[in-house]
Amino acid sequence: MHMVRYFMYEHKNGLRLASLEEKDLQMMKELKDESWFGTHHITINNLNQQKKWFETMNNKDSMFFIVYQDQVPVGTYKISDIDWVSRSYQSAHDVFKEHRGKGLSKPVLEAGVDFGFEVLNMHRLDTEVLENNLASLKTALWVGFKEEGIRRKAVYKCSTYLDSICLGLIREEWMNLDRLKNYKNICNKSYTPKNNVR
Ligand SMILES: CC(C)(COP(=O)(O)OP(=O)(O)OC[C@H]1O[C@@H](n2cnc3c(N)ncnc32)[C@H](O)[C@@H]1OP(=O)(O)O)[C@@H](O)C(=O)NCCC(=O)NCCS
Repeated sequence: MHMVRYFMYEHKNGLRLASLEEKDLQMMKELKDESWFGTHHITINNLNQQKKWFETMNNKDSMFFIVYQDQVPVGTYKISDIDWVSRSYQSAHDVFKEHRGKGLSKPVLEAGVDFGFEVLNMHRLDTEVLENNLASLKTALWVGFKEEGIRRKAVYKCSTYLDSICLGLIREEWMNLDRLKNYKNICNKSYTPKNNVR
């Protein structure tokens, strides 16, 4: 049987966000197993532990998306530590290994960040990048994040303590980005307002 994948959010840059499903967990596990070189935390989970984690997830605290280009999963967008009073969260993204080096990092993060401001009505997004993850740092700055500080020697990675670069993006700054103007202030094409209401 052909399973149709529905997308929560379709960005005008061509990428689409689908909520994480249980069937994605093997793919997420493979990503975690190989991508810890660039991330702050090391998650050593078997598939059973992944399933337990998935069952405890709720959209009040965090949201996980698989990012698609056409029907192909190319990356993830991760929202965690949502603060609904200050309207902020921790933003992170990945590109799946087989799709790296093709310029997808910027559009993947762009789609996620624009979703956060546009759909969730966030006021501020936070992110952190390891000092040696230049592709990620370049991407965050391109998407509009500003460097705000450094947590010195904060993350241990195989015999070295790395600095963690803290970045933030505030709603007013996001609204003034050139790309917002290019998208005519609406970044998604999945919302069609109904005009036939009184
Ligand atoms: C970080 C990550 C998302 C980057 O994705 P990618 O597909 O490798 O990056 P891209 O090819 O799209 O390149 C993005 C930018 O970084 C630059 N870049 C890529 N690798 C680089 C490197 N080693 N050094 C410096 N710049 C680099 C690219 O030139 C590009 O900039 P440009 O558009 O100005 O030329 C990806 O490597 C990844 O998922 N890594 C594992 C997990 C991870 O680190 N997640 C991020 C945690 S903060």
